[in-house]
This record gives sequence, structure tokens and C-alpha cells, in this order.
Amino acid sequence: MTTMDKYTVLWLICVVAGVQITSAIICYDCIDTPGISDHWTYDPNCAAYDYHGSNYTTDGNEVCYILYTDNGSVTRGRVNEGVHQEGDCRFEFGFVQCYCETDYCNTGSYCEQCVH
Ligand SMILES: *[C@@H]1O[C@H](CO)[C@@H](O)[C@H](O)[C@H]1NC(C)=O
Ligand SMILES: *[C@@H]1O[C@H](CO)[C@@H](O)[C@H](O)[C@H]1NC(C)=O
Repeated sequence: MTTMDKYTVLWLICVVAGVQITSAIICYDCIDTPGISDHWTYDPNCAAYDYHGSNYTTDGNEVCYILYTDNGSVTRGRVNEGVHQEGDCRFEFGFVQCYCETDYCNTGSYCEQCVH
């Protein structure tokens, strides 16, 4: 191999490794009701439509979500991606939950994309 080829191979290895590393994403992580669970960070502003605050770097196998309840209460967090993926919606009695997979994606929505 020429020196140039060696650098090309090294560069390729770094690019491939980099793609794997960047699968760890950052999710907003908050709850607007105190005392429910310390799994989320309590923030009275959590229900703000365009929330920008408490956030959490995932372990690379999680997706972010917004959980929007009928009474306007919001929880933002992360969950194992084996269960849900980008664009998924979950409807339960009293709330809708939507999932996304990019940095800081779980804001700027009350899961309207789920209700067509
Ligand atoms: C993420 O959290 C940090 C520390 O709490 C905060 O300073 C930063 O503004 C947050 N990032 C965003 C994009 O909201
Ligand atoms: C809103 O609904 C959620 C889920 O049903 C409940 O846990 C919460 O206490 C309610 N909040 C208010 C302010 O009613």
C-alpha cells in the first residue's frame, strides 16, 4: 500500500466508527408534575411547546419521546429503541406519545403529527 492508501483506509475506519458513535443522541428529559418519579427531571416549564432545557445523552440504543396528556401536561424522555422508532405514535387513554431519533428532537410539538 502507498502511504496515501493507508491514510484512506484509516480515514474510512474513522468514518465507520464515527457513524456508530453518533447513534447516541440527546433527548430532552423533563416532567411538569413534581413528585411522580425521579426518572425525569422536574421542570415546571416542561409543557412549553418549544421546550429547551433539561436534556440527557442516551446510551445509543434509545429514542426520544414526547408524552402529551389530554390535560396539557407533558413528559419528555427516552426509551429503548427496540420498542419504538422515529415517527411512531402511541395512543393510550388520556395521552398520546410520539417518538423521534435525532438530537433534541422531542420538542416543538404536542405530537400533532400523530393526529391526521
Ligand atoms: C442542555 O442542558 C444544558 C445543561 O442543563 C443546558 O445548558 C443547555 O442549554 C441544554 N441544551 C439545549 C439545546 O436546550
Ligand atoms: C394530567 O394527567 C396526567 C395523566 O393522566 C396526571 O398524572 C396528572 O396528574 C394530570 N395533571 C393535572 C394538572 O391534572
